[in-house]
Amino acid sequence: PLPLVIDTDTAQDDCVAILVGLLDPEADLRAITMVAGNVGFDKQVKNAWMTLNVADRLDVPVHLGCRRPLVREWVSAENVHGDGGGGLAIDESGLAPQPEHGVDALIRLAAESPGELTIVCIGPLTNIAMAIIKDPGFVTNVKSLYIMGGSNNARGNITAAGEFNFYVDPDAAKTVFAAGFADIVVVPWAPLTLVDGVFSRDEIARIAAVGTPLARFVVRVCEATLAFDESVGIMGSTHPDSLTAAVLLHPELISASSRYAVDVEADSELTRGYSAMSWGVHGLEPNATVVEAVDRLAFLEYLIGLFGTATTPPRP
Ligand code: BDR
Ligand code: CA
Repeated sequence: PLPLVIDTDTAQDDCVAILVGLLDPEADLRAITMVAGNVGFDKQVKNAWMTLNVADRLDVPVHLGCRRPLVREWVSAENVHGDGGGGLAIDESGLAPQPEHGVDALIRLAAESPGELTIVCIGPLTNIAMAIIKDPGFVTNVKSLYIMGGSNNARGNITAAGEFNFYVDPDAAKTVFAAGFADIVVVPWAPLTLVDGVFSRDEIARIAAVGTPLARFVVRVCEATLAFDESVGIMGSTHPDSLTAAVLLHPELISASSRYAVDVEADSELTRGYSAMSWGVHGLEPNATVVEAVDRLAFLEYLIGLFGTATTPPRP
């Protein structure tokens, strides 16, 4: 199995991505690191524990990372996500995060097995940028970064140009793409997620029909954002984060990808977080592979299979 860490602002599809990391036999999920993003930091931690609990995997260490972006004020997506965890109750009395900071955990885990650790980055990139700044060996110790963020058609979701993860901490995103990682794979918001990462209400009903507690949890999490998605013309729930984890573990889901020189706008307010993806005619060296199309139905079947075979009972 592939050693990995999920760096997350846990709400909605972050929960599904964590389940992918927990349930897929190809994955060896070593830790979860938390970063400021979608909803209040403590709610995010609760959502991560709720997800681990549903899969009966509270043994996975949760490390608290950066509580705000590098230099900007935190911006939330609470209008989209609500509390983001599907509203399940969890008794937190016996739960505690690891004493080690999330950035230090990333640095340590990468250093413990140089060239082997993959980080699935499904929130703002603050923790990754901090690890780069703190440890000169971090960039070469990491095998791969799988990053959910940006768009390669200039279609943002928080502003016209800005996708949420890059918008919240554009300085961090810019730092990461300039750092010289050997392998970066980007799962963009648009067009990819909006085309191949949306499940309709009928398809969500198929997940519900699986009938396991895990499937029920996923449906609750999907439903939490459906009303918002439909209000902006997206006819279903969006799955950028779980898609990022899925293409890491099953690259055969990818039907098109290209190498790009990716950079992120961190000066302009109008285009804050915009991801410039230069495709080769501008003389820039590519620094990332951008996923451009996946087999949407195979992705859905994959998730249905994961939630159907797992038999772990929930602990409400
Ligand atoms: C990204 O922003 C968050 O709201 C989602 O969890 C996803 O990581 C999409 O822009
Ligand atoms: Ca996320």
